[in-house]
Amino acid sequence: MNNITASKKIHSIVDARNLARKRMPKLMFDFVDGASGDEKLCEINNTALDQIRLEPKVLRNVENRKLKKKFLDIEFDQPFGFSPMGMCNLTWTGADKMLAKESVVNNVPACVSMASSTSLEKMYELSEGRSWIQLYNFQENFVMELLQRAEQTGYKVAILTVDVPIQFRRAKDNKKWLYCTF
Ligand SMILES: Cc1cc2nc3c(=O)[nH]c(=O)nc-3n(C[C@H](O)[C@H](O)[C@H](O)COP(=O)(O)O)c2cc1C
Repeated sequence: MNNITASKKIHSIVDARNLARKRMPKLMFDFVDGASGDEKLCEINNTALDQIRLEPKVLRNVENRKLKKKFLDIEFDQPFGFSPMGMCNLTWTGADKMLAKESVVNNVPACVSMASSTSLEKMYELSEGRSWIQLYNFQENFVMELLQRAEQTGYKVAILTVDVPIQFRRAKDNKKWLYCTF
């Protein structure tokens, strides 16, 4: 199935999830779809997000609609962008490249993970300068090296992830290891 056929089959997140489950290796599907610990927070977040509804405003002039948003002195076409995601190329060949290309087409920022499977330099080039760099608060020397490389490349925005102070535990991954006996 090529991308065009796939996009005709995707009308919701549920459709995308079902297709991904069929096509991705289980380990990677679980990485993207799962969460840490007992995964309860995933359920709680989904329920909370489902409560948010857009308020329709009727009888307004909608001729000049615009979602453009200036953030840190840079104007983007949408008020959101790509979150940092590590190891994307393991989900699909060239996934990072696709994300970077979409950031150009839609003029949105693409945050490059500290665990990205594509170099920060390449992502900056592919996103035509729309990349931000994400860093974790561990491995200090490596973080400083990445920051320096990012600055030299032209990055203007660095994001620090503060909710992962130590290596997290993912039960699904651990279960996988149970099958691995020596
Ligand atoms: C597959 C995957 C990989 C991720 N990798 C990172 C990462 O490397 N660094 C990071 O700060 N956040 C990472 N995240 C967290 C996301 O950036 C984001 O904060 C989180 O998914 C919540 O946003 P959402 O509700 O739009 O999914 C990852 C999320 C997913 C699903």
